[in-house]
Amino acid sequence: MVATSDDTAAAADELVYNPYAFSLHDDPFAVYGRLRDEAPAYWNDELRFWALSRYEDVQQAFRDPATYTSTEGIALESRGPNQTLQTLIVLDPPEHTAMRKLVNRIFTPRRVAELEAETRRIVTGYLDRIVEGGDRCDLVADLTGPFPMDVISAVLGMPEADRPELRHHADQILIREDGQMALPAAALEGFFELVRYFSDDLPQRRRGEGHGLATDLAQAQVEGRPLTDDELLGFSILFIIAGHETTTKLVANAVEVLSRHPEQRAILAADPGRIPDAVEEVLRFWSSTQYMHRTATVDHELHGRTIHAGDSVLLLIGAANRDDRIFGPTADRFDIDRRPDRHIAFGYGAHYCLGAGLARMEARVALEELQRRLPGYEVDQDAKVRFHSGNVTGWVSLPITF
Ligand code: HEM
Repeated sequence: MVATSDDTAAAADELVYNPYAFSLHDDPFAVYGRLRDEAPAYWNDELRFWALSRYEDVQQAFRDPATYTSTEGIALESRGPNQTLQTLIVLDPPEHTAMRKLVNRIFTPRRVAELEAETRRIVTGYLDRIVEGGDRCDLVADLTGPFPMDVISAVLGMPEADRPELRHHADQILIREDGQMALPAAALEGFFELVRYFSDDLPQRRRGEGHGLATDLAQAQVEGRPLTDDELLGFSILFIIAGHETTTKLVANAVEVLSRHPEQRAILAADPGRIPDAVEEVLRFWSSTQYMHRTATVDHELHGRTIHAGDSVLLLIGAANRDDRIFGPTADRFDIDRRPDRHIAFGYGAHYCLGAGLARMEARVALEELQRRLPGYEVDQDAKVRFHSGNVTGWVSLPITF
């Protein structure tokens, strides 16, 4: 059959959403807009998943674990019934409720306030070294990459000497190849290295040695019994990955977005008390976590399509946070005056991010100290290097001069 110009135009206009395509990562927002408007229940036949992009649908799915279960994985690439570690984040209520109760109070506002001095000390240490090093640095390598791992390791009670190793393994886990859903060997190796590290660490925690959350959890009871080895490993690995990657990416995203909005940066320079507003708007505008994965438990209709039991469904946080149905005609504009109290960068419902308060504090402290110590810093826009992953957005390298 001869292709007509109409066919060519239709092919060029075809709506394709592949979260692993590197070409998408610089600006997924045009595709997200088309998904919301043209295909609010979008099916990717090649990778076999649905994507929900409208705020109302994403929020509704987050609050309905009976229809959208987490038990078959929260990452598309590792979906399936046999989740390696049956940890908090892949449990549904009521199992989730009991586990969550155990850790619900570890990041209360009071505890987060207590961690602020330690966070500031850590951030200041990195900035001291940056200033001593001259008039330029790579902000990711020298500050935003390492410091959240230091903070979460301090919470868990992991020795300072082990933190670079933990960070290396956690970073490896997110490595993906262009357009490919399959986990590369490096990602699997990173995961198994973390399992090995925490397995070796476990016996001393069981004996009550060491300090921090890892020891506390090894001594804790859930529903009248101690946690199993798998549950303890699951907690440690979850905290290390969730506590490090997303916050690392949030801070670098904030610096990069602000560098492209000098008028907004000037507002913060004039009034550092506005930094929390900027953090909130970065979370909405360029969420570090772009989506979470769920699995449908029953056949159901949505926007005229039938989602079948067992189907994968991506909840596109990044698209929901730009939905003009909620955030109005300026949804695609970065505006720290917006006060976007409805964004869902930290998810919604039972699995709402446990570390949200910690992440907000860490980002605020980093931006405050950066502004105080390097007020005139400039991002080298030509030299920055994007981080490519499935659902996490950020930077591998963000060179600055000051
Ligand atoms: C910018 C930073 C962060 C972002 C964008 C983020 C995002 C999220 C999201 C979207 C979820 C929901 C997952 C789901 O519904 O399946 C979540 C859950 C979670 N986050 Fe965060 N997170 C961040 C920082 C942190 C930090 C610093 C910690 C500290 C340990 C943390 C620990 C957790 C945990 C343990 C869960 C699972 C909660 C549960 O299953 O009940 N996160 N996070």
